[in-house]
Amino acid sequence: MRSADLPAYEDLLRSLGALFSGERDLVADTANMAALLFQSLPEVSWAGFYFRRDQSLVLGPFQGPPACIRLPWGEGVCGRAALSGSSLRVADVHTFPGHIACDPAARSEIVVPIFRDGRVVGVLDLDSYVPDRFQLRDEEGLEAMVRLLESAVDWSPWVETSH
Ligand code: SME
Repeated sequence: MRSADLPAYEDLLRSLGALFSGERDLVADTANMAALLFQSLPEVSWAGFYFRRDQSLVLGPFQGPPACIRLPWGEGVCGRAALSGSSLRVADVHTFPGHIACDPAARSEIVVPIFRDGRVVGVLDLDSYVPDRFQLRDEEGLEAMVRLLESAVDWSPWVETSH
């Protein structure tokens, strides 16, 4: 895949801002963000969210095949990224100890934690059937999109039910 073929994350960020404008609902905004990413990024087999519920991550809005509903906190690629609070890119999920294979055909993955008041409240997760699909530019672009999500959403209804 040539880099000239890739959509610019600046454009995606602008589109995301337009989708969020005037809407602070968590489900609506994350559903549209998953759809935008899945539709715009090539070679992505799954794009969506998991949200923190006690000691698990619970499936949120996504695009792609049906996925695992609950992931243990601290386990798998999502749980490890959530626990560490750092983005995680896995070039070959078959070599990642504890990888949770919702779709056996998935080969590479990127997970970006979502913060509210300094605490991880969930993750953005993207999978690909192509090994080593996600590069540093994806990590930086997706992190910028997650920062926009964090400030766009009204998290208060979520927080009331998550402790
Ligand atoms: N592979 C992830 C599980 C979520 S799915 O990829 C949608 C993990 O290891 O945490």
